[in-house]
Amino acid sequence: MAADFVSIQWVPLEPGTRVPGVVRIIDQTRLPDDLVYRDLTSVSAVAEAIASLRIRGAPLLGIAAGYAVVLAAQQALLRKRPIADSVRDAAETIRGTRPTAVDLFVGLNRLVEAAVRMRSSEPAAVERLLAAAEDFHESGRRACAAIGRYGADLIPPGARILTYCNTGILATGGEGTALAAVYQAYRRHGDIGVFACETRPLWQGARLTAWELRQCRIPVTVLCDNAAASLLARGEVHCVMVGADRIAANGDAANKIGTFPLALAAACHGIPFYVLAPTTSFDTQIPTGAQIPIEHRSPSEVVRPFGRNIAPEGVGVYSPAFDVTPAKYISALVTERGVVYPPFQTNIPRVFRQECRDPSGEKK
Ligand code: MRU
Repeated sequence: MAADFVSIQWVPLEPGTRVPGVVRIIDQTRLPDDLVYRDLTSVSAVAEAIASLRIRGAPLLGIAAGYAVVLAAQQALLRKRPIADSVRDAAETIRGTRPTAVDLFVGLNRLVEAAVRMRSSEPAAVERLLAAAEDFHESGRRACAAIGRYGADLIPPGARILTYCNTGILATGGEGTALAAVYQAYRRHGDIGVFACETRPLWQGARLTAWELRQCRIPVTVLCDNAAASLLARGEVHCVMVGADRIAANGDAANKIGTFPLALAAACHGIPFYVLAPTTSFDTQIPTGAQIPIEHRSPSEVVRPFGRNIAPEGVGVYSPAFDVTPAKYISALVTERGVVYPPFQTNIPRVFRQECRDPSGEKK
């Protein structure tokens, strides 16, 4: 089970040197039909790719934001501008793309801080920034691996897992979050199956999760989002596993619109509902989910998918990209530092003080 595709990477333009280079991504808007790589050469190209969802998924956005800072520094050298000025402009551009996933701001701030510490504007400085961006990328990859191991401990042999949106290789710098647990469990037990909700309005579940699981030969069944509650009622699903874009200090978790109803349905049927996310997706500065900024997207994504009207022109459209699942519906948060059980208010701070593996000291 080895994936032969890479969601994001820095590619040098000339052999033997690390810079100049480009950021190579998979254009996720082209999946599942075409696996197309694109080389991003400027900050504005990265911003466009983020806003249009060519790249998406909270951890991947953080990594892309980091590489955008390297591109900004590279451009500064070409234009004989101070790196700090170019990086400041880049940060403003990237910050304006998507507001909900906190990882984007974590990755961006990490690299902006590194750039600000650099006094010189020379090729060696860009190389040092690239090393910092790759370091952030690598720590994200390691976080995915650890989340996968902790998450797989929650999946018994033969389990069927219901998931939402895309939380895998395509969404991160590694094997993913919720899907990393699936990949690990599959390696351990073999007999693992996934139900992937299609995830309206942009079908990340049907287009992306189903595609990457098929690439990795893991059995996957796609269902309409409105079929999830009845599937859970049948008692054939062992647990629901989803990712997160931002988790507040009390454990409230923002994720793709439609996650909250899944949590309600899981609670109704007594099925565990797990949120798997790296610590870069936590925003402990905000007390509750009410403070999470929710992105609203273009009405056309809802009423004119694939360029064809599915509602009369001129209707009002409600199109939040994310919802917030209240902490009380979450059975556990799975991070790279361990599994966090309720009460989250007490146990999340323990994670950030490096304690674990099981910050509650007991399993539910
Ligand atoms: O709008 P998207 O596709 O970027 O939304 C992505 C999600 O909601 C994911 O579930 C989340 O970012 C976690 S990815 C590991």
